[in-house]
Amino acid sequence: MAGRTATGIPGFDELIQGGFLEGSSTLVSGGAGCGKTIFATQFVYQGAQQFQEPGIYITLEEGTTNIWWNMKSFHWNIAKMQQENLIKIYRVGMFNPKEFALQFDEEIKKIKDMVTTMGAKRLVIDSTTAFGMFMEKESDIRYNLYKLISEMKKLNCTTLLLSETLGGRDQYSRFGVEEFVVDGVVMLYFFPPVRSMLVKKMRGTNHDKRVHPFEIGPNGIEINPTEQVMWESLNK
Ligand SMILES: Nc1ncnc2c1ncn2[C@@H]1O[C@H](COP(=O)(O)OP(=O)(O)OP(=O)(O)O)[C@@H](O)[C@H]1O
Ligand SMILES: [Mg+2]
Repeated sequence: MAGRTATGIPGFDELIQGGFLEGSSTLVSGGAGCGKTIFATQFVYQGAQQFQEPGIYITLEEGTTNIWWNMKSFHWNIAKMQQENLIKIYRVGMFNPKEFALQFDEEIKKIKDMVTTMGAKRLVIDSTTAFGMFMEKESDIRYNLYKLISEMKKLNCTTLLLSETLGGRDQYSRFGVEEFVVDGVVMLYFFPPVRSMLVKKMRGTNHDKRVHPFEIGPNGIEINPTEQVMWESLNK
């Protein structure tokens, strides 16, 4: 039995039997500004801070400084974690669509080397949406995501993949294929003024099935596992 990787995000782990299955891949999906990047940076930060687990944050969209500032806006001691080599932020540049396959393989190799060298246990890809833009067919997106996830699984690295949606409650990813390739799907919603989240799927886990409100405070995301938001109240 694989162990569990606790996120350390207050109120979240108890919704998924203590954490993500080690080496599993989870899509964190939602509209603009709903908190995907914060959720994922917190997963990496708390991994380092609470569990001394090294983590790598891979960004395809925002620059590394942006991700850094994002983390600095909370009461987190990022500098210390970087000095101790527990957190690494890595930027993947633009792909050339004509040479995608080759460049993609090179990037996977670089990521694998980084994971091995650092002994990373946690990995974030922000985002699959940016990455899917370089592919023409849905089947290519599905295939390449599958390939990436399989490689991370071999390394036993627990992976979060961030995916943009238009923000409605019925759309789980941008291209409509991402949610099938992963082991889990966590949906984040923001219908002002209420932020909420739902564990939509989690293979091998008896997860909570309700929508819960959450807040972004000075320490990051905090979920209220006892209160719920009615599904009907979320916009389609
Ligand atoms: N320090 C903070 N305290 C409270 N709320 C914050 C703080 N920093 C950011 N936010 C809120 O979080 C939102 C951004 O969250 P985040 O960057 O995680 O969203 P996202 O889902 O990744 O968005 P995108 O799709 O644009 O990448 C901001 O728009 C703001 O409402
Ligand atoms: Mg983001």
